[in-house]
Amino acid sequence: MSKMINITIDGKALQVEEGKNLMIAARENGIFIPSLCYYEHIEPPLGSCRVCSCKINGKFGPACTEKVTEGLTVEVNTPELTDTRKALVEMMFAEGNHICPACEKSGKCDLQHMGYELGVSSTRFQHLFKDRIIDFNPSRMVMEHNRCIKCMRCVVDVLTSDGKRVFTYQNRGNETFVGIDYEQEARLTEEEAINAMKICPTGAIIIRGVNQSEPFGERKFDLQSSQKDYNKKTAHKKRTVPMEKKIVATVSLAGCFGCHMSLLDIDTELLDVVELVSFTKSPLTDIKKFNNRCHIGLIEGGCCNSENVETLRYFRENCDILVALGECAVWGGLPTMRNAIPLSECLEEAYLNSVTSEPGNTIVPYHEDLPKILDRVYACNEIVKIDYYIPGCPPDANHIWKAVKNLLWGEEYSILYSEFKYD
Ligand code: SF4
Ligand code: SF4
Ligand code: FES
Repeated sequence: MSKMINITIDGKALQVEEGKNLMIAARENGIFIPSLCYYEHIEPPLGSCRVCSCKINGKFGPACTEKVTEGLTVEVNTPELTDTRKALVEMMFAEGNHICPACEKSGKCDLQHMGYELGVSSTRFQHLFKDRIIDFNPSRMVMEHNRCIKCMRCVVDVLTSDGKRVFTYQNRGNETFVGIDYEQEARLTEEEAINAMKICPTGAIIIRGVNQSEPFGERKFDLQSSQKDYNKKTAHKKRTVPMEKKIVATVSLAGCFGCHMSLLDIDTELLDVVELVSFTKSPLTDIKKFNNRCHIGLIEGGCCNSENVETLRYFRENCDILVALGECAVWGGLPTMRNAIPLSECLEEAYLNSVTSEPGNTIVPYHEDLPKILDRVYACNEIVKIDYYIPGCPPDANHIWKAVKNLLWGEEYSILYSEFKYD
């Protein structure tokens, strides 16, 4: 039997097996150290992501590469360390191009899960929007470079039966990417190729025809996210009287009203909804002002003018929970097509040069009563804090109401694959 030694983690004295991996020793004693590149059978551990950073005997270092020794003192959950880990994950999101609602790995992705665990809802770093390729050349795989976090798992662990590497690092520094040796990739068996997809912590390695085998809602992190608890602790505690009739408000900003049409698409179930909720300010009721504080506000569309911004802030002030409904509210949607064009050009095209403008018109409409057009279209979360996002274009009607009911009554919630809709 291995020798037991004494270590201290966050002030808690523990007895652990000498030489054990610190991260595993901590987890076996109920202390969770977040990790990303670590993979059980890769030895020695890669130590490439630094998400498991702790203070070990007073010095910063990755827990996954540390073996426990007698008297080791470790700090895990300090505000500084938590923020460092969060910053690292935020950098990964800023560096890649991650669109989780459209990603095959969503619900099963370690990066996405780590984002939830660490409470990452946006990144403090500027998105790089790198122009990366999706490589369809390999015979069985598709390499989605936008999602690769360069953890090295595939480089070290995916080998052909005669030990040849399939993945290698190419270039250096900021230009580094993981390339595939097409010849060696073609020599992998089906099982080996699928294992490569599984070993990747993100959705960077895709095997054609295999990755959709488990639907959203049934994938491992759909059920394990601690963010659900976090959301309950924050948003749901504001609701005081259970099972009272809840008040819902809706608005369409820079949207096409498609999400509102979808809201009405639940047909006869609308009668059940009316039993449970009453509508205040909404295009559905034509009520213009909030009479009472509202339990939930559903926002369709992003912000393209000053009136949108004012309305959105008015909703934030008057709603306990604010939900971005549909792609335009979530990230700006189709109206953001104008973001790449200077505002003056857009106005000229709309009012002076388009085929529908009056011949000889030389005036772009302007009046102090007209809302000011913004320099670009903004997603709702760029203006106010958004509590929840319901993606889709438009989101499915039953999906919207399920989400609203679950949020209002604090029930467990997960999105089924069948409920996603982008048409
Ligand atoms: S790889 Fe993960 S984080 Fe990136 S888009 Fe896919 S699910 Fe989201
Ligand atoms: S492809 Fe996947 S496993 Fe390979 S380095 Fe990128 S994220 Fe890691
Ligand atoms: S999990 Fe330890 S460095 Fe990545």
